[in-house]
Amino acid sequence: MFGVEPEIPLSDEEFRLIRDLIYSHCGLYFDSDATYLLEKRLAKRLQLHQLSGFKDYYHFLKYNRKKDQELSDIMDILTTNETYFFREAFQLKAFTEEIIPSLREMKLKSGDRTLRIWSAGCSSGEEPYTIAMLLLDMGGFAGWNVEIVGTDISQRVIQQARKGLYGKSSFRVTDDSYIRRYFTEQDGMYRVNDKVRELVTISHLNLLDANRIAFLGRMDVIYCRNVIIYFDQVARRKVIDSFFRTLRDGGYLLLGHSESLMNISTAFTLKHLKNDMVYQKPLSGRVGGGP
Ligand SMILES: C[S@@+](CC[C@H](N)C(=O)[O-])C[C@H]1O[C@@H](n2cnc3c(N)ncnc32)[C@H](O)[C@@H]1O
Repeated sequence: MFGVEPEIPLSDEEFRLIRDLIYSHCGLYFDSDATYLLEKRLAKRLQLHQLSGFKDYYHFLKYNRKKDQELSDIMDILTTNETYFFREAFQLKAFTEEIIPSLREMKLKSGDRTLRIWSAGCSSGEEPYTIAMLLLDMGGFAGWNVEIVGTDISQRVIQQARKGLYGKSSFRVTDDSYIRRYFTEQDGMYRVNDKVRELVTISHLNLLDANRIAFLGRMDVIYCRNVIIYFDQVARRKVIDSFFRTLRDGGYLLLGHSESLMNISTAFTLKHLKNDMVYQKPLSGRVGGGP
């Protein structure tokens, strides 16, 4: 048929080589059920670089001088970026009614007027902007230095997050009052207002890059929701270990509702709040087994 490119098959050996290379770059782990998915998604890259097979593509990823750029580019087609505003309402309730009030009290006592929150794997930005809207609604931070840092490995979603322009599906569970107060309609889409954006910075970051993470500085709360489900246990441990080091003593780690630290880390305390169960870095610093 016209316009249909010839299929280039991905052998089991090529699958394993490419899969392992992707895994060591970013922690995403594809099991053998995903052979077809990788074959389909990467086929266009072979065309783009005029390569005749996946073995050549593997060599390109491993040795070409543009290998780093290629690995970065394929993150846009291999990551799952599903997200929306006000996702997991019960956890957000725990955040505004329990976590933030308790952190604020602790900080007021110590004279610390900073609040730093990291949305790790923020996709197109709905999560960090949700956090900003919640904090603006809470108020009580006049004179504080409040910062929400959103990071992701995909440049495509980072660009979207920086643009801050959203369509209907991002608002599937959003109360109209938030749209009225924090967005401006623009050509059938909604742009997040400056007072929300001012609290948020968006950067590119690979969660497996512990050196880069060290430069983020200390955080009070880390949101990492629906990200480590795509990693294997070894990569999960590495990332959680970095989170432990990044959190201030008494800081909180918020995972997705289907995720837990079971078999990953014993370093955090599981706190039973009224609205949710969350992980906290012990106040006295490191206790118990390592992450
Ligand atoms: C399903 S989205 C979750 C978005 C948001 N946290 C939420 O729960 O709505 C997962 C995001 O994690 C990002 N991600 C996957 N592996 C990553 C890595 N190694 N470093 C940074 N981000 C990563 C993906 O690009 C994707 O945007």
